[in-house]
Amino acid sequence: MALRTAGSVLVVFLWSVAVVLGQYGWSVTYTTQSICALKGSTVDLSCSYTYPRGHKVTTTFWFTKIDALENDVNLRDDPDYKGHVTYRSDKNKDCTLKITDLRLSYSAEYTFRFITDQEGGKYSGYPGVTLSVTDLQVKVTTTWWSTTLTCSTTCTLTGNSTYIWYRNSKIVQAASSPSYSVYFKTEDSFYCAVKGINSPAVSVRAQSYFHVTYTHQRICTLKGSSVNISCFYTYPSGHTVSETNWYIKGKLHEAPQILSLGYGGRVEYLGNMQSDSTLRITDLREEDSAEYKIRFRTDQTNWEPTFPGTTLTVTGLQVKVTPATVTEGQTVILTCSTTCTLTDNPNPTYIWYKNGHVTTQSNSLFLKPVSSEDAGRYSCAVEGHEDLYSPEETLTVTYGPKNTSVSVSPSGEIVEGSSVTLTCSSDANPPVDKYTWYKKNVASPKASGQSYSITNIISEDRGEYYCEAQNGRGSMNSTALMIIVAEKQTSVLTAAVGITVVVLVLILCLPCFMWFRRSIGGSDVTADTQSVHPDPNSDTYTALNMKTRSPEYDTLANVRDSSSDTVPQIDAEPSDYEN
Ligand SMILES: *[C@@H]1O[C@H](CO)[C@@H](O)[C@H](O)[C@H]1NC(C)=O
Ligand SMILES: *[C@@H]1O[C@H](CO)[C@@H](O)[C@H](O)[C@H]1NC(C)=O
Ligand SMILES: *[C@@H]1O[C@H](CO)[C@@H](O)[C@H](O)[C@H]1NC(C)=O
Ligand SMILES: *[C@@H]1O[C@H](CO)[C@@H](O)[C@H](O)[C@H]1NC(C)=O
Repeated sequence: MALRTAGSVLVVFLWSVAVVLGQYGWSVTYTTQSICALKGSTVDLSCSYTYPRGHKVTTTFWFTKIDALENDVNLRDDPDYKGHVTYRSDKNKDCTLKITDLRLSYSAEYTFRFITDQEGGKYSGYPGVTLSVTDLQVKVTTTWWSTTLTCSTTCTLTGNSTYIWYRNSKIVQAASSPSYSVYFKTEDSFYCAVKGINSPAVSVRAQSYFHVTYTHQRICTLKGSSVNISCFYTYPSGHTVSETNWYIKGKLHEAPQILSLGYGGRVEYLGNMQSDSTLRITDLREEDSAEYKIRFRTDQTNWEPTFPGTTLTVTGLQVKVTPATVTEGQTVILTCSTTCTLTDNPNPTYIWYKNGHVTTQSNSLFLKPVSSEDAGRYSCAVEGHEDLYSPEETLTVTYGPKNTSVSVSPSGEIVEGSSVTLTCSSDANPPVDKYTWYKKNVASPKASGQSYSITNIISEDRGEYYCEAQNGRGSMNSTALMIIVAEKQTSVLTAAVGITVVVLVLILCLPCFMWFRRSIGGSDVTADTQSVHPDPNSDTYTALNMKTRSPEYDTLANVRDSSSDTVPQIDAEPSDYEN
């Protein structure tokens, strides 16, 4: 296989910490004193040595063991190392040892020894180099949310290593880290190898384990929406899954029970009954927030992971108005908030509704400056879930008085001695709490209160009146209203004119009465005179009365009309009389 034919030389990069051993010119220097290498790889134990002038080296060798006679055993003569060791030539006093195709049993301390032609001319470089040979093993660590496969060694490999992970014979990771996180699926096989080393790859088969990997540790989603909580599971080959159940931590809900336990038709199971399962919950409610876990049953056993499942949080939306109350012209920010960050939309765009109508799309509503027209009921929704809107929140915008105006009652010309009431009205929020009345060219205020009554009005009251409305947010003066006081004399004069006219009519009618009396006989004269006398209930009399009370010219016109009606009759009479 490709894995096995990979290069076979481990190049050990060594710290340049030279370890010099010895005295008086005798020394052995190992470039590194401790090496960790993989089984099957090749190592060089770098070494150099010195000895005093005048000596000639006759023998050099490496050893790990001492024989029964307390002699060091030359590695080259050790049957365990046959074909695995090479001494580099002694030129340049280089004593490097190469060991190929490492075996686990080669873990030992390696020491270099040399002997010269002189008496006592021998030297061993203690302490030697410690070699640890390790093989690869796959460790499966099931964390809460995934499976971590670690290509482990018993010692830390010397130098930089690249760990390669294969999933079903394809490279899925090549990294300096020996760990690989994965969704473990039943059909998967994983292999691990170290790049460049002819060391057997080790494999792990998901099929050997009972395991569950939830696709999410946490899910945050909107109230009213739907969610899929899913996982992959594995189990030893030979088992057949007969049932998968999702349950809430604490109380166990078997699938049919969930359907009848308040979830109604909101729960659905999806999955292939072989390697994955999904719990689908629709029309989510806040009380669905819980930790959901799976367990499954095979034809041979029940299995239930002990580690946590998926924690579901169902959030509603809430409009927050900052500041809570605002005065026109200030700045107000409306934000739409959730209790958790939405899993499928961490940075949502919100749709804003004002009084039930879509106004805008934005993260937050920034009203600067805010106007009284912005006041209203606001709610928000997440784009894509426009139908799931928040409860409404009312934005109240306070403002100082606007549109301050004065009205008068009764309207029209005011007669001396009568009363008149002025009323101030204004649009303000909060409502106006102080009204002050002024008369133009009069410094001090005339009155306070929304209405101002002037009783027994006199001509000096004539003038322009205005009011000031205040509400703690501001104040505003109305435009002035002119009050004209009509003098009483005017009405007396009018009455006099009226009386004169009536008298005139009576005088003009006199010949008519005379004629009438002549035509029907004298006995009726008394009755006729009585009918001519103004009846206190007659229209004419009433009209005159009204005229004194009110200066309406209409009334005067009526009086004139009735007299002019009479006149033509009088005009016609003289001709009759002449006849
Ligand atoms: C080994 O790794 C270290 C740290 O990642 C790096 O600085 C160094 O260059 C590497 N050495 C080689 C020979 O790749
Ligand atoms: C959940 O799964 C169903 C069926 O596969 C799919 O139609 C739906 O879109 C999924 N819903 C979500 C919120 O992912
Ligand atoms: C004053 O009131 C009138 C009628 O109610 C309205 O049309 C007008 O817009 C208001 N003016 C202001 C400044 O509010
Ligand atoms: C209203 O008129 C009064 C009296 O003239 C004055 O003191 C006040 O400042 C005016 N208010 C406003 C808002 O103009």
